[in-house]
Parts: sequence; structure tokens; C-alpha cells
Amino acid sequence: MVNSLTSAEQAEQEKAETPALGLYLHVPFCSTTCEFCAFFQVRPEGDDLARFLRDVETELALVPGPLVVQTVFWGGGTPGLLPAKHLAELCALVRGKLVADPAEWSVEMAPGTVTRDRLAALRDGGVTRISLGVQSLQPELLEALGRRHSREQALRAYELVRAAGFASVNLDLIFAVPGQEAAGWIRDLEAAIALAPDHLSTYCLTFEEDTALFVKLSQGKVTLDAEKEAAFYEATWDTLGAAGFAQYEISNYARPGHACRHNLNTWGMQEWLGFGPSGASQHGGWRYQKPAQSAGLACRFGGGPPRHFGARGAHPGAAGGRCVDLRIAL
Ligand SMILES: C[S@@+](CC[C@H](N)C(=O)[O-])C[C@H]1O[C@@H](n2cnc3c(N)ncnc32)[C@H](O)[C@@H]1O
Ligand code: SF4
Repeated sequence: MVNSLTSAEQAEQEKAETPALGLYLHVPFCSTTCEFCAFFQVRPEGDDLARFLRDVETELALVPGPLVVQTVFWGGGTPGLLPAKHLAELCALVRGKLVADPAEWSVEMAPGTVTRDRLAALRDGGVTRISLGVQSLQPELLEALGRRHSREQALRAYELVRAAGFASVNLDLIFAVPGQEAAGWIRDLEAAIALAPDHLSTYCLTFEEDTALFVKLSQGKVTLDAEKEAAFYEATWDTLGAAGFAQYEISNYARPGHACRHNLNTWGMQEWLGFGPSGASQHGGWRYQKPAQSAGLACRFGGGPPRHFGARGAHPGAAGGRCVDLRIAL
């Protein structure tokens, strides 16, 4: 059959048929562990930070490249905990692996880590989007969650992020914290809206195993209340909808043009490569995850072969795909 497409049309078609590729980097450092958090993270010791950079360099070199990626996401842990010098080095390592700068490059920061020099290193290194872990703007809830920052620090951090000129800024908030009432949650939402972020992630507190909060739950010191959680969800839909934020995933709301492309790519079961300890990948028909820590290896974390979850399975029939589909089926 004669191909009737022009070369430009053919290029467009190939682009449409190629699954988007995201690059995730797990930065496993936090200064303390929050009561609720089960993400893999350690308090950096000795030369951990320098060693982490070397490990990332090695991991990147193992992947045939250069890579064409649409989005980059650095999560954690707290990537923003690295000193500005290390952030600049890490940006250069990742950028050096890419054919071109990605359309979106997100970095998670805790408010207590936000400084002008860190922000400048990230912005100059190619980062376009900052996700700030505010969690709450109420002192007693910040305390209950075991957060290190105050309300004032969160507000100041947001100001600094805005002043640094990133294209998109997200705030993470948590609701249904033991002791929190719906009126207090609405006050948090209104305070966040008043800051005019581009994106809001509102997470219902989950009691993850191996967290201090889970221990409190099992000791009966805190309780779950499904009715209350439902009321918090409803208050979130109403308040953020009225403020012009469109919900595009169970926990995520954005102003027009600011939905997180990296996460949409993941929830759409496209392709991503995960780097850093515990980084998971879905690529080339396979799903696998790097170990977080490996006793007995020279490396304190992230060493050893990846754990394979097996063949990816045809989307959307694969079980993982169906679960993820529910998150974005609104
Ligand atoms: C991987 S954390 C990293 C953010 C950064 N380290 C910080 O805490 O500011 C990403 C977000 O997940 C959310 N999160 C983590 N554990 C959670 C839990 N158990 N329940 C609800 N939200 C959670 C928090 O809102 C947090 O900001
Ligand atoms: S929520 Fe963020 S700062 Fe707290 S322990 Fe988890 S990754 Fe670290």
C-alpha cells in the first residue's frame, strides 16, 4: 500500500503513537520522620549526600541514552534538603542525560528547606515546578503531624518560591487529621487559595504501616472516622471548585494548564524510568523497583538488583492499570 502521509504527518503520527516517557528520581533524605510518612527516607550521615550523587550518576550511565523525556519529577524524601551546590550538580547530571529539557520538571520541597540559593540552583538547573509540602496552616495540626515547620515558615517559603519565578507551584495539604474539624479544613483551604497557587494536592491522611501514626491507631490513641473523611472530601470539592480549581484526580486540583503532566503520565499507565533508592519503573514492557536498602552491600542504600514485578500487562486490562484508572475516573 502506498503511504499517503507527508513526512510531517508521519512524524506527528509516530509522536502520537510513542508513549510519553517520564523520569522519576527518588531523593531519600529527610531531617526527621513525620508521624504519618512511609516513604523511604533516611537522615543523611557522613558522606551520604556525595555518595548519593555518585550513585545517581552511575545509574544514569547504565541506561542507554541520551533520553527523550517529557517530564522529570524529583520526589522523596525531601529533595529540597540537599545543599544548593548538590542540587545544581544533580540538575546537571539529569540534564546531561536528556536530549532536550523536559516540558515539566517538578521538585518536592518541605517549607523548612526553602532558601533563595536552593531555589536559584533549581531554577537555573532547569526545574519548572515546585511542590511545597505545606500539609496544614494550623500550628496545632502541624504539631500533630510531626512537621518541622511553622505556619509562618510555610507562608515565607511560598513567597520565596513565587519570587524565584517557577512556571508552576503546587501546595500539598492533608485533611482528616485526628482532632481536625471540617471548619478548620475549610479555613486551611481558603488560606491556601488566598496564596494563589497553580495547583493543590489535597490528601486524606492515610495510616500507613510502619509509621508512628499507625502505632497510635493500633493502640487506640487515635481513631478512623469514614463519615468525617467523606465530609472533608465534599468540602474540598465545593471549596476548590468555587475557587476555579478543576479536579483531575482523586487528590489533585489545578488551574487551567497546570495539571501535573508527570503524574498524569503515571496514572495513564504510560512509561517512566525510576532512579534512586526505591525508584520504580514501568518501561519496555516491564515493571520493576530498585531496592531501598541492602544490608551487606558497600552502599548504605539503593544497592543490588531491581525487584521485578513482571511483565507490564496490556493497559488498561492489567490490575495495576485498573486501580490507577479509578483515581482519574471523575
Ligand atoms: C513524598 S512526600 C514529600 C514531600 C516533602 N518531603 C514534604 O514532606 O514536604 C509528598 C506528600 O505526600 C503526602 N503524604 C505523605 N504521606 C502521607 C499520608 N500518610 N497520608 C496523606 N498524605 C501523605 C504529603 O502531603 C507530602 O507532602
Ligand atoms: S512527609 Fe516529607 S518530610 Fe515528612 S518524612 Fe515524609 S518525605 Fe520526609
